[in-house]
Amino acid sequence: MNSGSLGIGLLGLGNVGSGVAQELIKNKELLSERAGINLELRKVLVRDIHKSRFVDVDSDLLTTNWTDVIDDPNVNLIVELIGGETPAKKYVQLALSKAKHVVTANKELIAKHGQELLALAEDTKVNLLFEGSVGGSIPIISALTRDLSANRIDTIRAIINGTSNFILTAMAEQNMDGARALQLAQSLGYAEANPHNDVEGIDASYKLAILATLAFQSKIDPSQVYTEGISTLEAKDFQYARELGYAIKLLAIAKCEMKEIQVRVHPALIPDNHMLAKVVGAFNAVELEGNLLERTLFHGLGAGQGPSTSAVLGDILEIGRRIATQSYPVKFIELEQSPKIIPMNELKTLYYFRLNISDRAGVLAQITKILGDLDISIASVIQKDSDPSTGTAEIVITTHISKEESVQRSLSLLEKLDTVTKVNNVIRIEEILA
Ligand SMILES: NC(=O)c1ccc[n+]([C@@H]2O[C@H](COP(=O)([O-])OP(=O)(O)OC[C@H]3O[C@@H](n4cnc5c(N)ncnc54)[C@H](OP(=O)(O)O)[C@@H]3O)[C@@H](O)[C@H]2O)c1
Repeated sequence: MNSGSLGIGLLGLGNVGSGVAQELIKNKELLSERAGINLELRKVLVRDIHKSRFVDVDSDLLTTNWTDVIDDPNVNLIVELIGGETPAKKYVQLALSKAKHVVTANKELIAKHGQELLALAEDTKVNLLFEGSVGGSIPIISALTRDLSANRIDTIRAIINGTSNFILTAMAEQNMDGARALQLAQSLGYAEANPHNDVEGIDASYKLAILATLAFQSKIDPSQVYTEGISTLEAKDFQYARELGYAIKLLAIAKCEMKEIQVRVHPALIPDNHMLAKVVGAFNAVELEGNLLERTLFHGLGAGQGPSTSAVLGDILEIGRRIATQSYPVKFIELEQSPKIIPMNELKTLYYFRLNISDRAGVLAQITKILGDLDISIASVIQKDSDPSTGTAEIVITTHISKEESVQRSLSLLEKLDTVTKVNNVIRIEEILA
């Protein structure tokens, strides 16, 4: 083992930070041996030094002053586990500009500022690693940047938000409505008190921007990812989807064809015999298609202390090994700076409509005329619950491949029909081979 040591400064001692600190303290010898260099936890930045913590960190290591960590000459590696953009970006920039290596699990930071930070790391010849930013324990960043880098990846389909997948699983398996499923997720610790970013697809859009940037070697900003959350889904959608042979998942989809890229996060019906349909609870999965690998699926726990700690420690050990063997930081890939992103209204896919209509003759003809005029060809129509007391019925329509722009136009026309009492939901269908 290298006789030197790698001094580690931890920013944040919350859920993930505590896991990382605990392992660095309890398993110091084993981890140091695997890194080939002594790993020394030297300083830990927190907001509140008096807060009770489940990890037993020497109180001398704790500080509320970031300069104590970043300016410490004995700290060569900063592990950023604060989260969010501010002040995390400032701390990471300062650390890199002082030629300190950085490991982070911060998806928002990497999705929005990764390119700039990696350029800074390259200038100062240090490593910036971020395996923990996507997919928890699933080693997807290293797979895209190293193991699969000989491929031309053209498709990513991923379930990369454990909270929303937990909620969708409860809705599908226990016939719960979204609000009750969210409460259950919160009571079991799978959802935060403010679940907005998880439920509205924002967290998944950050992660998809990172994956698509690496897979297509093109700079994709999270603002370019079309993002729709799960809050419009109802228990009935799951019931009808099941009858049609589908599951419903919050899918993060990125495709690159002839250098044209689509990036979108939205609920999707997927064939229930596909492996992504079997990803339940807080699990994540990423399916890649590429010219050499054909199709590969990664599956594992996407969040939580253990899985995230596993990813962060993997990066720390990798940096330890690179220092111990005096390897240069791996040069980051050149990114295409202005890739062509296909606007969402040009998307062509299959659709599921759920409508409430007046239960009388001629209504279906009005609906099929609107859809037909917009070139939306119907694959199936099923009449569901009829309610004689209100004279209404629910119908579910699925379409063949249609254009998003036409579907959106059809909705405004359908809503104007006095025989359509409500457009309950429209969900895209992702047709994939099982
Ligand atoms: N939780 C997961 O399962 C998971 C999974 C994958 C990735 N991540 C990512 O990992 C990172 C950390 O997540 P987490 O769940 O561990 O967060 P967390 O539990 O909220 O912990 C955040 C920590 O940062 C400290 N902190 C926050 N703002 C600070 C500031 N301005 N100055 C100094 N310290 C500050 C807090 O100090 P106090 O303790 O004193 O309040 C706390 O120790 C995030 O980027 C997150 O997206 C988390």
